[in-house]
Amino acid sequence: MKFEDEVGRRRTFAIISHPDAGKTTLTEKLLLYARAIHLAGSVKAKRASRGTISDWMKIEQERGISVTSSVLQFNYEGSALNLLDTPGHADFSEDTFRTLAAVDSAIMLMDHAKGVEPRTLKLFEVCRMRKLPVATFMNKLDRYGLEPLELIDQVRDTLNIDVAPVNWPLGMGDDFKGVVDLRTREIIVYEGDDRRGSEMTTSRRVPFDEAEELIGSKAFERVSEELELIQHAGDVYDHDRFLAGEVSPLFWGSAMSNFGVEELLQFIARNATAPGPRLTEDGEEILPTEPRFTGFVFKIQANMNPRHRDGIAFMRVVSGKFERGMDAVIGRSGEVLRLSKPHTFMAQERSLVDEAWPGDIVGLYNTGKLRVGDTLAFGGAMKFAGIPRFAPEHFGQLRLEDPMKRKALDNGLEQLAQEGVIQLFFSPGQGRQSPFLGAVGILQFEVLKERLKNEYKVSVQFVKASFSHARWVSGPPEALEWLRTTHGYALVEDRNGLPVVLTDSGWNLNYALDNAKDLVLHEVEPL
Ligand code: G4P
Repeated sequence: MKFEDEVGRRRTFAIISHPDAGKTTLTEKLLLYARAIHLAGSVKAKRASRGTISDWMKIEQERGISVTSSVLQFNYEGSALNLLDTPGHADFSEDTFRTLAAVDSAIMLMDHAKGVEPRTLKLFEVCRMRKLPVATFMNKLDRYGLEPLELIDQVRDTLNIDVAPVNWPLGMGDDFKGVVDLRTREIIVYEGDDRRGSEMTTSRRVPFDEAEELIGSKAFERVSEELELIQHAGDVYDHDRFLAGEVSPLFWGSAMSNFGVEELLQFIARNATAPGPRLTEDGEEILPTEPRFTGFVFKIQANMNPRHRDGIAFMRVVSGKFERGMDAVIGRSGEVLRLSKPHTFMAQERSLVDEAWPGDIVGLYNTGKLRVGDTLAFGGAMKFAGIPRFAPEHFGQLRLEDPMKRKALDNGLEQLAQEGVIQLFFSPGQGRQSPFLGAVGILQFEVLKERLKNEYKVSVQFVKASFSHARWVSGPPEALEWLRTTHGYALVEDRNGLPVVLTDSGWNLNYALDNAKDLVLHEVEPL
């Protein structure tokens, strides 16, 4: 296959959702329909018995959850799909956001009984920042939920994005029979009594008029009215506007019972974005089809094997063809790295990879030379624009159990912060002493404690701080002075010396904006 075709058939995407919307279930069903697995139920089973099958971090084994995002690669209809997992439960962390820096599109998954939930909103904001195309899947139609039209209004108003239904539900709960394909006005009826859909469900298309027989005349009348309404009021799907992140095509279904999964998969394979260009630090655009291999690291998984203490750096290929054993230069340090044991991830299995194309994710063994945001390039150093950091929501400080270990602690903190495990904030005038730690997800602190103990032989206690909000600050000196002198705010510095305000409520942030003239607060680190 020609290089351009390899690039063009790749779809690198993530599923964004609030916990329990059904991400694991949908992931598994996408794999089922792409025939990458034969029986659904295995991903969950693996999650539960992880301790026996995986050598990932101890903490991960103890809790039976995944600390870090994994990558799944599978084929469908000639497209090569890379699905990047975004950790969502207690394992929600900055990695979840960083993963979105490595994808070209996203599926926004919602429980139709709940609509837009806080985590969905946050992750969607990151997608918007990157102008990513986002397709929406309303899940759990086999249960009762909000009225479809109401739900569309909610998504449109809360997320401030146009929504274009691609299909429409025929009933819900026990009466959920299928969906209407709005492009052809045919009904897709799903068959089979297996409500958990461990195997693929068959579906058939019938003309819309036959719906009356299926769902009864009352429900039919209502659906007909809804269709009439959305035809006049709703946004229509426009491919260019989807690619620009301006309109979200909307699908309805039930991941558990397989309804609507195949249509979504087909849509992603056919319509989601192929790998695009990426900007360098100097603003130069690197096209995926450029022959020179380049890539960047978006996530580091440490200690996958506690005996060897090595880790895996997840790299997204940006341009050129990646080949096993090639030498690449790390942009930040200028060091040459032989990429000798790259891994790919096929439906939960890790295996060695010989070659990879733009859009693909490669797992590289990392002995500590690579950091989040690093660029790797063949034949000379270069740097892509960095991955921004996101405002933490959990804060605390460390208490050292053995005061003699101060130096080891400082050293460990510095390195782990550079790796992106946590963020450090320093109080002015106190040097690097007793920094505040900040994390997007609470589990990051446990990962930090564990790693300080294993890798730096330092035992610490974590003391929670009362802050709950952080914002990077810009504006005139008077505005910063206001923050410095007003009760309820701590003005600190991040590792790069940028001013950051810590406070304990969103109300305080608004109060500061109202009172400190020309103050600007940034939820994402200004680059
Ligand atoms: P997550 O990864 O987003 O957190 O969600 P996950 O897939 O684990 O699903 C959360 C719960 O929602 C699970 O139930 C799952 O079975 C259920 N679920 C997912 N999709 C659907 C759907 O289309 N319809 C219905 N009715 N339920 C769905 P659970 O009780 O937590 O687990 P389990 O006992 O069912 O495995």
